[in-house]
Amino acid sequence: MKFFIDTANLSEIQQAQDMGVLDGVTTNPSLMAKEGISGIENIQAHYAAICSIVDGDVSAEVISTDYQGMIKEGLELVKIDPKIVVKVPMISDGVKAIRYFSDNGIRTNCTLIFSSGQALVAAKAGASYVSPFIGRLDDVSTNGMDLIESIRVIYDNYNFETEILAASVRHPMHIIQCAHLGADVMTGPLSAISALIKHPLTDIGLEKFLADHAKATK
Ligand code: G3P
Repeated sequence: MKFFIDTANLSEIQQAQDMGVLDGVTTNPSLMAKEGISGIENIQAHYAAICSIVDGDVSAEVISTDYQGMIKEGLELVKIDPKIVVKVPMISDGVKAIRYFSDNGIRTNCTLIFSSGQALVAAKAGASYVSPFIGRLDDVSTNGMDLIESIRVIYDNYNFETEILAASVRHPMHIIQCAHLGADVMTGPLSAISALIKHPLTDIGLEKFLADHAKATK
């Protein structure tokens, strides 16, 4: 399972990279705005900075909602760095744009996926990744994991190569459940990734080992 971090914060990306388990980064317009990044040149420079920190894929989202606009933006985004994956919303023009990018060797991440039907269409259009938003489904009393399970079955039935990128991950149990269900990738906050490491019995055990060692070497 690949681990992506879902942020545009350079310090958090660096911390995740330094942990040695990071495979990529996802961003979205809200996350970029949260970092105070605006204006084409600043946005491009920020993506370049992210790409300089990580080894893997970096999803950069288009703002346009029309086909021509998405193509223009996507072609600009991929010039920044070969790690860039163009993130495209699941709307009709987005599906057309994914087909164009796929036919032209440009990788895409189809975002805002809330149903298995949407994921099926994205895969048929040639998306490299689909991003089902599990946390936002949980927020409206719908089990996000059911969607991951359903997409996994559909993709396996037809050997689609599109990778399931579980997004809107909020906590470590989301990551573990996604791993059980065979999501290819999860993207979440640094807090969720870091929380996987923690266990009170590990801390207690380590404290005892060190205390015993200290006693024996007095
Ligand atoms: O990047 C998209 C997705 O991960 C957003 O997550 O927490 O805003 O629902 P969230």
